[in-house]
Amino acid sequence: MPIGNTIPVGIVGTGIYLPEKVLTNADIEKIVDTTDEWIRNRTGIQERRIISDDMATSDIAVRAAKMALQNAGVSAGEVDLIMVATISPDMFFPATACLVQKDIGAWNAAAFDLSAGCTGFVYGLAVGSQFIKTGMYKTVLLVGAESLSRSINWEDRNTCVLFGDAAGAVVLRQVEDGFGILSVELGADGSGHDLLKQAVQRTQAPGTEGNCRSAENYLTMAGREVFKFAVKIVGETALKAIESAGLQKNDIDCFIPHQANIRIIDAAAKRLDLPKDKVFVNVQKYGNTSAASIPVALHEAFLEGKIKKGEKVVLVGFGAGLTWGASVIKWAL
Ligand code: ACO
Repeated sequence: MPIGNTIPVGIVGTGIYLPEKVLTNADIEKIVDTTDEWIRNRTGIQERRIISDDMATSDIAVRAAKMALQNAGVSAGEVDLIMVATISPDMFFPATACLVQKDIGAWNAAAFDLSAGCTGFVYGLAVGSQFIKTGMYKTVLLVGAESLSRSINWEDRNTCVLFGDAAGAVVLRQVEDGFGILSVELGADGSGHDLLKQAVQRTQAPGTEGNCRSAENYLTMAGREVFKFAVKIVGETALKAIESAGLQKNDIDCFIPHQANIRIIDAAAKRLDLPKDKVFVNVQKYGNTSAASIPVALHEAFLEGKIKKGEKVVLVGFGAGLTWGASVIKWAL
């Protein structure tokens, strides 16, 4: 739906953190029965990053958050609210957002986590912008951060080739009239809760072995079903958000979908009649980083000059829940 004709809210700074360790398809060939060729052809992924043993999700979230604040020219003390979108929090509780608050010294901020699978960042944009639109807060720090390498069963070739670790962050604030978030569409279908899940939370704290090891501790996914859902929902939700923003498909300058699988991205681009140069893709470098995928892609697209002030960007997420969401933003930087 249209975001409302109140205070215009947009992204005023972005930041990312990518763990240094690179795990290539060739490395994975040594772990499970798979091939580089299969992974490239079926997913588009060539390599992914893996968090170091001494770090947790909050540590990579902090690094992305600091970069976003610096790029926005905003001090930690000015932040009113921190939201961390994640499905791999450090602990069952407290919220990873509270650990981020402590580490960046944002002592005036409220803090909580948001769980909406790979759609977490888009849900977070909707929630965070409402606080500013109502006048309750001026500055919201939204982070998408995941260490799913610690949720994966490294003996399961169906899932272990797909995911990677990363963090991306944005600062939300009032922007010029006519700019910022123009529309948001969110959805959920809990009847698909079983298709992608981790039934029991493992501790993600560095240096721990997790609480116990059973099948329920690991991420499981019905890949084919999630694929079918994704191909349908990405194009559909993007179109709704474009329409809600009062725009047409050909008004879109940059399309940033959740980076899960190149075939899902290509199918959505086709549905939206978008040429390749308007579609941002980095799945080959990082794999599926869940809630971090869209903010990481957004940061890289901006850095590479693929998004300029006044251009219209479409973000689309989908994932566990099942959940989905899209947003159209008129870029304000
Ligand atoms: N290497 C080699 N073969 C494999 C591998 C592998 N890594 N993984 C699966 N296979 C095999 C399967 O066992 C199957 O063999 P079988 O036919 O003998 O049983 C065969 O390949 C085909 O399996 P499919 O599931 O049909 O393969 P598909 O082409 O659908 O690709 C994939 C699988 C990549 C998982 C795809 O279904 C997909 O991308 N699904 C969506 C995943 C996704 O986006 N999830 C994230 C949502 S976001 C979130 O919230 C975390």
